[in-house]
Amino acid sequence: MSSPITVPQVARSITTSIPGPKSVALQKRYGEYVSAGVGQLMPIFADHASGSTITDVDGNRFIDLAAGIAVTGVGNAAPEVVKAIQEEAAKLTHTNFATTPYAGYVDVCEKLAEHTPGDFPKKSVLLNSGAEAVENAVKIARRYTGRSAIIVMENAFHGRTNLTMAMTTKSMPYKRGFGAFAPDIYAVPYSYPLRDGFGEDGAAAARASIDKIELLVGHENVAAIIAEPVQGEGGFVVPAKGFLTTLNQWAHENGVLYISDEIQAGFCRSGKWFASEYFDLEPDLITTAKALGGGMPISAVTGRAEIMDSVQPGGIGGTYGGNPVSCASALAAVGLMESRGLADRAQHIGELVTRSLGELVGTVDTVAQIRGLGAMQAVEFVKPGTMEPNKALVGRIVADCQQAGLIILSCGINGNVIRLLPPLVITDEELTEALDTLKEIIVRNSAR
Ligand SMILES: Cc1ncc(COP(=O)(O)O)c(C=O)c1O
Repeated sequence: MSSPITVPQVARSITTSIPGPKSVALQKRYGEYVSAGVGQLMPIFADHASGSTITDVDGNRFIDLAAGIAVTGVGNAAPEVVKAIQEEAAKLTHTNFATTPYAGYVDVCEKLAEHTPGDFPKKSVLLNSGAEAVENAVKIARRYTGRSAIIVMENAFHGRTNLTMAMTTKSMPYKRGFGAFAPDIYAVPYSYPLRDGFGEDGAAAARASIDKIELLVGHENVAAIIAEPVQGEGGFVVPAKGFLTTLNQWAHENGVLYISDEIQAGFCRSGKWFASEYFDLEPDLITTAKALGGGMPISAVTGRAEIMDSVQPGGIGGTYGGNPVSCASALAAVGLMESRGLADRAQHIGELVTRSLGELVGTVDTVAQIRGLGAMQAVEFVKPGTMEPNKALVGRIVADCQQAGLIILSCGINGNVIRLLPPLVITDEELTEALDTLKEIIVRNSAR
């Protein structure tokens, strides 16, 4: 970065070069022992965190605009979550739920039934990761319908396992060299109002995708259609009104299950408990993970009871799924979402972000759009005077943000989108400091 950022550091505190000497030393050992395939965005190593800030091993404090990719919605190391983890770990570390059940698992399933959309009997299975939840949703849909084809959306991200790679669009880094992929997965266009030519006519965009499904597969072969209510890794793309509703309606008319992947958008992130609510969706199956666990690994498939019960005992689950400590953490996290009204808080964060960054639209010629739902907001960057994605600019902005004390992520099929996913407990002051810093960095880099 040419000259220092002018926004005063209050929540942030950057006192060494970035990376600092202790991070540099750790990086050497990382290079020696950690697979290069893991990837690394930040050059710094975290030491501890609290709420919306993360402090590195050199004592530098960063404002967290990533929440560990939408995980620590209730804040990092939230005292209520930490206490629940500590108490449960001392009481019951593991049994395997299928061997010796325990109450925490049942309690989490009850919370999932309560908060997911749809006023009908629901049941859940608990797992460990988002990809594992998606894998299981596909298994359940195939078992229930007796059909095998799965419809996914272009630009979707569903995970890194073999099946979920096949369901994910982007080759680099997620798929290249990792084939052969699982068969019977078909991708159709998702609504992308900025770019797909249908604008805000979501029903027309859906009809085009439905025509493609009928042409490529035929509805009688389709077990399920799966879509993110807002595409996460794909660029925080909010579909036009009518798109998901039309797909859902077509699914129901044709014996196809509708699966909503709310792994990134769910649990208050979008400004509602689930982003499906914006589109009046009551999915047959819903996949969740990330924020559910308050930082501990846990995921779930929740769905209509008759669908969830169509699977033979032992057909789904696993050794660790719904581990007691993860369940205790999830119950504490969901309790905080309820008691602190974090869905409303996410709405407020979204308003602050759009008010602040909205100033850039029409004044900075690299900014194509600010979009999102609730505390899931993004900026799409283009080359000036064109709609050509500007990935290089995003790379410079992310690098400068790190130097200035912000933890921030990019996304988008073309890598030209900056996404904001702060913990939902971020204070207005912390968020304003972060947004003012980001704006300064965007303006500087766009002028280069
Ligand atoms: C929508 C969506 N589905 C699935 C996944 C995969 O989750 P995990 O990385 O826990 O396997 C992600 C992760 O970012 C996601 O955003």
